[in-house]
Amino acid sequence: MNKKSDYKNELKIFLNEIKKFNKEKNKPLKIKKNSKIKNLALKNLKKILKKENYFIINLKTKIDKEIRELTDITANALGSKISQNKKGEKTITVTPNVKLIKNYGSRINNEIRYHQSNLGGSLHTDGPQLNQTPNILIMTCLNNSSKGGDSVLINGKDIYNYIKKDNPKILKNLFKKFYFERRGFTLNSNYIFKSQIFKFKKRKLEFRYLREYIDNAYKQKNTTPSKIEKKALDYLDKCLRLKSLQKKYKLSKGEMVVINNKIMAHGRTTFSVNKGNQRKIIRIWLK
Ligand SMILES: [Fe+2]
Repeated sequence: MNKKSDYKNELKIFLNEIKKFNKEKNKPLKIKKNSKIKNLALKNLKKILKKENYFIINLKTKIDKEIRELTDITANALGSKISQNKKGEKTITVTPNVKLIKNYGSRINNEIRYHQSNLGGSLHTDGPQLNQTPNILIMTCLNNSSKGGDSVLINGKDIYNYIKKDNPKILKNLFKKFYFERRGFTLNSNYIFKSQIFKFKKRKLEFRYLREYIDNAYKQKNTTPSKIEKKALDYLDKCLRLKSLQKKYKLSKGEMVVINNKIMAHGRTTFSVNKGNQRKIIRIWLK
């Protein structure tokens, strides 16, 4: 990944703007519609996001409080934050649960979930359990692991094109509706719902995927996807593991990745549990 250098100037301008803004007002958690940032650097930033579907920006500070503030300002400039769970939390710090990892080892089960574990793989889009998936996903690194923990990104459009060429019959099936569970949100009768994995919205391709939520939804419905649907899901997983389509980058403290979550899937490589400070990533969803 080299999006940092490709758009160095635009990102630098934006960063200077938000830092200035930070200085001018004491607690700049909300940016007014017509502020300088909206008019100037923000325009460039949105253009980059539209064209490239992600960018990485170095916040140039190693102080946690400042990293959190700058992440927050960027988030508020790019959209409005949405809840990530039933508690209504809009900013989450993703960090491994060392105690659970020690108890359950390297596997995901009902006791330990992906974001609590140190496992890699399982590329997905965030918030697939929502009717409207988040438009933008922001992840900022407060601390990374000494080994592993690289961010992995893959463009859904690249996967679509790959499948279209390699196995067009399968592609049709990924436009069908699959069961998804609303994990982390509600436990009422609406807990399982149906949605497409790929779809065109206003002629724009969108991607929604998290295999574990689909598998669990079918289990709870006491059913299974049809043979051809299962084949399509397995094939999609295989494509998500294609190194040739993946972009990899290890975030350092103070680096933020902003992702178009409507089309980009993400994941990470397996990482080591540190002796002291654990890997810690701030996560925000925007609509
Ligand atoms: Fe995620």
